[in-house]
Amino acid sequence: MAAADSSVKFSVLHRTCKLLVLLCFLHISVTLVFYVRSLDTTSAFLHHLHQHNTTTAPATGNGTGTGTGTGRSKPPVDVPKEEGEKKKGLDKCPETSPLLVGPLRVDFSSPLSLELIKENNGQLEPGGRYKPKDCEALQKVAIIIPFRKREEHLKYWLYYLHPILQRQQLDYGVYVINQDGDEIFNRAKLLNVGYTEALKDYDYDCFVFSDVDLIPMDDRNTYKCFSQPRHLSVSMDKFGFRLPYKQYFGGVSSMSKQQFLTINGFPNNYWGWGGEDDDIYNRLASKGMSISRPTGEVGRCRMIRHDRDRKNEPNPQRFDRISHTRDTMTKDGIKSLSYQLVSRLTMDLFTNITVDIGRP
Ligand code: BGC
Repeated sequence: MAAADSSVKFSVLHRTCKLLVLLCFLHISVTLVFYVRSLDTTSAFLHHLHQHNTTTAPATGNGTGTGTGTGRSKPPVDVPKEEGEKKKGLDKCPETSPLLVGPLRVDFSSPLSLELIKENNGQLEPGGRYKPKDCEALQKVAIIIPFRKREEHLKYWLYYLHPILQRQQLDYGVYVINQDGDEIFNRAKLLNVGYTEALKDYDYDCFVFSDVDLIPMDDRNTYKCFSQPRHLSVSMDKFGFRLPYKQYFGGVSSMSKQQFLTINGFPNNYWGWGGEDDDIYNRLASKGMSISRPTGEVGRCRMIRHDRDRKNEPNPQRFDRISHTRDTMTKDGIKSLSYQLVSRLTMDLFTNITVDIGRP
């Protein structure tokens, strides 16, 4: 009887133990499954993080004018060797950059320091040069700014434009062409100098000519070249956000190297304010070119208000000169340009070229 009793107890104990072992096995299996799945998710997350860092870094900075400026580019997360090697042969950047944000807030109420602008643009190469890291830019663009004694305006320009140009995925360099001395100003001749000097640096195929006091209000207004010469500052606050006249080609424009050479560059003999942009328009029209423009919405831009500069008074000869462009353009232009280079400085945010361009 006692033997039968203990046999029953043993069998119950045996079954309980088996159940316990089974439960332990189940527990370990479930834990293992979850562990393996969590490993997968982590690597996918790291991969995503890596992609995010490398594609959005150039878009950071203060280009939206919100003044936050927190986004300096971070080092990429552990790039596997093979992937790093693959980057050598980059794909072309898309026709429309995916980094664009559209309308921007632009204001000139608080003064800027060069240090802040440099902080926001840690990814620039010396001389204000940049090219996208993840794709091959479609154009190599030299941006030429004629300049004299407008340091405050230049700071706003650099502050707003560098982040915009980077979001536009351009391979670009900024050239500030400073007229030496106190002779009367000559905007178009400085632009010719900028074209010539930029080409000493790099094989640029597109040239954007911009006044220092004009800031675009929409980053979809891409600072690049088109199949026809481009007028970019089509909708300025100064003119009530409309074109002052149909042939207006002032402010900001762009031309491919070929387009520029076809019109023999710009005139060298417009001293003082006005007329040189109309002469450029006449040159283009005489060669059968038309003007390409963004829409009024995309082409909105703001001008920094200022008094007229000394030694840049309206040029009384401009009306006469404009009426003779067709006769003068073959003799006066990039082919006849002469000037003395005074200095060429590679700054962090731009290349600073000072020139003696003579006098009338
Ligand atoms: C001048 C241009 C100037 C335009 C708008 C014209 O009369 O000739 O040089 O850009 O006015 O101010």
